[in-house]
Amino acid sequence: MTIDNKNTSNTAKRRIHIFDTTLRDGEQAPGASMKPEQKIVIARQLARLGVDIIEPGFPISSPGEFQAIEQISRELQGTEICGFARCVKADIDAAVAATQAAARRRLHLFISASQIHLDFQLRKTQDQVIDMVRSMVAYGKQFVDQMEFSPMDASRSSEEFLLRVVEAAIDEGATIINIPDTMGYALPEEFGPLFTRVREGVRGGDKVIYSTHCHNDLGLAVANSLAAIRHGATQVEVSVNGVGERAGNCALEELVMALETRGESLGVETGIAVDQIYETSRIVSRTMHFPIAYNKPIVGRNAFQHESGIHQDGLLKNRNTYEIMDPEAMGIPRSMIILGKHSGRHAIKHRVAEFGVELSEHEMEALYIRFKEKADELKIVTDDVMLELVGEATDAHVQPFALVDLQVLAGSQKSRIASVTIHRSEDGSENTYTGSGEGPLEAVINCIRQAMPVDAVFEDLELHSLSTGEDASGEAVVSVISGGERYRGTAIHKDIILAAARAYVSACNGAVIAGRNAEAQRAELG
Ligand code: KIV
Ligand code: ZN
Repeated sequence: MTIDNKNTSNTAKRRIHIFDTTLRDGEQAPGASMKPEQKIVIARQLARLGVDIIEPGFPISSPGEFQAIEQISRELQGTEICGFARCVKADIDAAVAATQAAARRRLHLFISASQIHLDFQLRKTQDQVIDMVRSMVAYGKQFVDQMEFSPMDASRSSEEFLLRVVEAAIDEGATIINIPDTMGYALPEEFGPLFTRVREGVRGGDKVIYSTHCHNDLGLAVANSLAAIRHGATQVEVSVNGVGERAGNCALEELVMALETRGESLGVETGIAVDQIYETSRIVSRTMHFPIAYNKPIVGRNAFQHESGIHQDGLLKNRNTYEIMDPEAMGIPRSMIILGKHSGRHAIKHRVAEFGVELSEHEMEALYIRFKEKADELKIVTDDVMLELVGEATDAHVQPFALVDLQVLAGSQKSRIASVTIHRSEDGSENTYTGSGEGPLEAVINCIRQAMPVDAVFEDLELHSLSTGEDASGEAVVSVISGGERYRGTAIHKDIILAAARAYVSACNGAVIAGRNAEAQRAELG
């Protein structure tokens, strides 16, 4: 995608540093707290993603947190590590000790700057806060060269006091000034110019790096971060999937893709490995048990899906008609056009061709009529249903395997027992498999696995309720890894175990078909 920009295309781009706080501020999201070993997994992925700075937690908060930060500092020698601390000696000591092994590190000190926080939370006067900032920045500066300072709730602070507190921090050696919109209250047109006024209004203000840290209470975190960048900020604090307190932080993937997609207009660039974005989002969502909204920009399930027949038709002719970014470049699987009642013949034919089936005109018409009836009934026509319809329209067996029957005993006993009957289209056979597991789904998957000729490792299951009430249907999206590739299957049913089992069979079918196609190609080549 090329976006015309007459102003900046020949000028060198400003490098924006991505400061990731998923493991610190992100973890402050209700219910998102992680075990140390989970933090380490995420930190490794953040390093692969190419973030410039990782804030791995709050070292003073617990021994487990301290150890996780220590290990991340030791292991990730290519990434700058940030120790987070209040303006309190014990916090600084813990942050210094936890990040000791980092190849590059900084300290990040913060203190409230708004009057409401001073009066009701800190119960300190402005002069007392200035004294704390001076003494603690000076104290921390003995240990590190890079010192970041954040006046918390800056966007709701009196500008006079904000300038005073920032000047005090710079005087004592702060090298990075982070201006947070802690409550997500600012508007872009006021937040951006604040950076210019701080830089110009503070002694030493032209010698430091500016950073921004925006919360998303009004849905403006990305817009406010972009405004800060336009006014000179070269560091942006973000979290993966936008996780964080309340409505969360500025979402890494949204900000980065705004900079990637409109970088020419903004005259900036980042060092992010865009192809790692989707994987990172999935790992964080899974580890934090934090589902992603369907319509979440970039990483939401619908972000690159098109249901309208007009859009699907345009896309299949040229993707740029209705896409401003290339999902594959971010590691997002392409096969995600949603088929429903708005879908046209072109999209249906395309999806069927993806399963290696070519339809005559007559078969296509028969399929189209059945498809529209099903779409009215189900809203979304998932792959397993689509393949059944293709089978009805063509008398062909396009699904290598189909789930015929499933029985599972769930209860308070430790082991769940299941029995699953699978139809194999190649020879028309039906076999029943039995298995057990700690939960009913595990028991069912253990049965299905026995029927499959491929090794399909169950990677992920997402369950969504498609309506409310007792008779709600559940949609299951399952991904499996086979031969190093990821295959997805979806299915909908009122019984969520059945939906998950069908989705698993559908994902395995994808792996089987891919294997057969590869074999056929090899045979053709001789
Ligand atoms: O939101 C906030 O103000 C913060 C700071 C401590 C940087 O998380
Ligand atoms: Zn924050």
